[in-house]
Parts: sequence; C-alpha cells; structure tokens
Amino acid sequence: MLAGIILAAGEGTRMKSRTPKVLHCLCGKELLRYPVELLGRAGVDRIVVVVSPANQDAVKELLGDTVEYAVQPAMTGTAGAVKAAAGILKGQAQQILVIGGDSPLVTDESVLRLIGGHQEEGRQMSILSGIVEGSRGMGRISRDQGSQQNVLGIVEAVDDTERDGQPVEVNSGVYCFEAEWLWENLAKVDAGSGRESYLTDLAAVAAETGGSVAALPSNDPDEVLGVNNRVELARLEDIQRRRIREHWMLEGVTISDPSSVMIDAGVTIGQDTVLLPNTMLLGNTSIGSGCEVGPGSVVKDSSVGDNCRVTSSALEEAVMEAGVDIGPFSHLRPGAYLESGVHIGNYVEVKESRFAAGAVMGHFGYVGDASIGANVNMGAGTVTCNYDGKDKLRSVVERDAFIGCDTMLVAPVTIGEGAVTGAGAVITKDVPPARLAVGVPAKIVDR
Ligand code: UD1
Ligand code: CA
Repeated sequence: MLAGIILAAGEGTRMKSRTPKVLHCLCGKELLRYPVELLGRAGVDRIVVVVSPANQDAVKELLGDTVEYAVQPAMTGTAGAVKAAAGILKGQAQQILVIGGDSPLVTDESVLRLIGGHQEEGRQMSILSGIVEGSRGMGRISRDQGSQQNVLGIVEAVDDTERDGQPVEVNSGVYCFEAEWLWENLAKVDAGSGRESYLTDLAAVAAETGGSVAALPSNDPDEVLGVNNRVELARLEDIQRRRIREHWMLEGVTISDPSSVMIDAGVTIGQDTVLLPNTMLLGNTSIGSGCEVGPGSVVKDSSVGDNCRVTSSALEEAVMEAGVDIGPFSHLRPGAYLESGVHIGNYVEVKESRFAAGAVMGHFGYVGDASIGANVNMGAGTVTCNYDGKDKLRSVVERDAFIGCDTMLVAPVTIGEGAVTGAGAVITKDVPPARLAVGVPAKIVDR
C-alpha cells in the first residue's frame, strides 16, 4: 500500500496572517487542497494530513473526512511532522509519499514518475527536485562530483547562502520513502539544540548508511516552488493562472488578451467561448460553449449556459440558461435566475428573482424577490419596492404582461397575465389579468 503524508502543521509565520498559511487561496482554491487532490489522483490509498493544535479545527472544517489527521503537538520541524503520522501509518504501508501543504504547483506527471521510479529502483528515499534560479529559502541537493553525481544530502538554504543567487538544484519537499526505513531512521534526525528537526537530513542518512537515495529533477522548474510569504503566493498564483488559461485555450476557448484574464481553479468553460480582456471567472463557475464573456465581466459562483453574452457585467451566485444576454453594466446578485432567451440590457440589478423564458428588461432598474413571467416586457426604470423597512416582500408579474417605464411595483403585489401598467404607475394593489393600471397610486381603468 502507498500512503501519503501532507505536512500542514507549520505556523506559516512568514505569511503574517491570522489565517493558517495552508488555508490561503491560490486561484480560488485553498493551498492545502492542491496536494490532497493530487495524491487522490495519484492513487495514494490513505492520506494523513499533519495539523497543529492551533490550525486543526480550520483544516478539518475544510477537508472533512476525506483524509485522516495527525496532530503534531509542538512545531519541532518537518521530521517531527512526519513522526506525528507514525501512530496512524506505522506497519500499514510499504511506501510513504510526503508532500508539503504549501506546494500547490506539483504536477501529477512528476508525482507518478517519482513513485514509479522509486518502486522500480527499490530505493529508500526518492526526492523530486528542480533547477531553480533565485531559489531563496529552499533546500539544495548536494551531489558528489564523480560521474554518478550521487546525492549526498540536502543542505538547507540557511547553511548555503553563498549559492543564493545562482541556479541550483533545489528540493521540492516531495519525497517517496520506503516506509520501514523511514520509521527506523526518523529518530536520527530529531531536533538538535536550538534548531528544528529537518526531514531533509534523511537524504544524508540514506547516503551514509549505503541506502539508496536519488533526486529526480523536474522538467518544469515552477512546480517545485513553495509558498512561504505573500510575495511567493502572488508569484505562484501567476504561474498557476497561466497554466489554467493555457489549459482552457487548448480545450478550445479563445482568450484575446490572456494576461488580463483570471480563471479560478474550479471553473469550467465550453468550446468556442470567447473571453474578452479583463474578465474574471471565479469560484465555482461554469460557462457553456459559444459564449462571449467580457470585456470586464466578473462571474463568481455562477452558471452560464451555451450561447450567452455577458458584457461588462457582474454575476454572483446567479444562473443564466442558454441564449441569454446581459449588459453592459448590469449586476446579477445571488438567486438571480434567467431562463433561456431572456434579454437584460444595461444598468439592471437582479436579486433573488426568476425571469421566465423570453422576458426582457432592456434598461436600468431593480428587480428583487420577484417572479417575472414568460415574454414579459419590463420598461426602463422599473423598480420592485421589495423592502418595507422590516420584511422582504415578493412581486409577481405574470406572463405576457407589459410594465410601463418607471413603474414602481410596491410588494407584495401581483400583475396578472397580459396586464399593462402605464408610465410612472405606482402599483400598490394587485392588477387583474389583461387590465390596465395607471397613476399614483395606480387606479385600474378600462383599456
Ligand atoms: C522545506 C524543506 C526545503 C524545501 C522546501 C520546499 C525542510 C527542513 N526543508 O523548507 O528543503 O526546499 O520545504 O518547499 O524540510 N511543517 C509542519 N510542522 C513543522 C514544520 C513544518 O507540519 O514543525 C509543514 C509546514 O506547514 C509546511 C511544510 O511542513 O507545509 C514545510 O515547512 P516549511 O517551514 O515551509 O519549510 P521550508 O522552509 O519551506
Ligand atoms: Ca515551505
């Protein structure tokens, strides 16, 4: 069996944050979810996340029972963190994959290559490495100068500052261990006086005791980078955003100015959709095929069907079925639901309301807590007066009604099927089907 240990107990002091480091987001997804999902895809049978007494509640809230947890009682370093998982995993697995909770860019390909090579060669320890310029705080692989270039150990950056500016082979913090060997040798790298225990010291232990250790350089130097502070968070997010855009472009999405477009990790986009400059697709959003989104649209946690147009507009927790268009400069707030063929023009705000198929609102106005029937025409300036200072109240406009410009629908109120309101009407009572209501407050008159 192959087990995984994700190290996530560190204090993340360098983030200077009240939020635990591994819960900071990269492209809309918590750092810690990257290795959890990666190990899941790599076929790791059991995943143990090492947490601290301080962050365990927050981490457990994020991951629930999708993983197992080990609590590291004191921050004694990365070797101490692995030791905390021994209680759960000792005697359970043949191999152990270890990865940091702050390494979101590691790829499936590299992890599978690391595991495959480790198992084939029968090593004690395999390390994923990468050649990086300006490696700052990362541990460096040290190799002998012979033809084999055997790994001698890992030197932490603090002990190797003269190589800081140069390209060096660094340790990604992803390792595959022979489990028995790991548990036997962990005690040898306990915390020394005045310094944390380094898991990385196991590389030298393996080299010295004749055990076999190897470092496999990645083809993609970006993936070995970790997040220790917010400068690195931004740098890694930039890399990940580029990867996400390239993924969707290769899937058939046109992005005319890629660097200005942000697509979160949880977003899906259909073929032949065009993303115009300065567009942000965030959170759990899906965009259908054949759409045009942007310029300058922000779509968060929303679903947009096929063949829609979202021009310079903001959507949050909203749904657009197929063939809907909106904008420029309109705002769908939580609970807005536009059925197919709805047209929303400029300066319209919709909240907690459903527009049935074919309903139209071309110009400025506010629709909240309302149900708008099929083929209704909402005139310019229509407002649902949905709040009386105490409660939110509903407006209903039945199918085929025609709401004149500047109508105030003072909720609760129902406009019957096929009814008409005059320009500037203030509707305080229900209007029966097919009737005409005019005036302030509106009176129902013959048509
Ligand atoms: C570590 C490696 C370094 C490597 C880098 C890759 C060591 C000593 N150094 O350095 O060689 O290049 O990762 O990103 O391992 N953690 C715990 N408990 C602790 C301390 C840390 O769980 O007591 C966790 C942290 O939450 C983090 C991970 O282990 O997710 C790595 O710790 P961190 O302090 O970030 O190590 P680096 O200095 O980045
Ligand atoms: Ca780190």
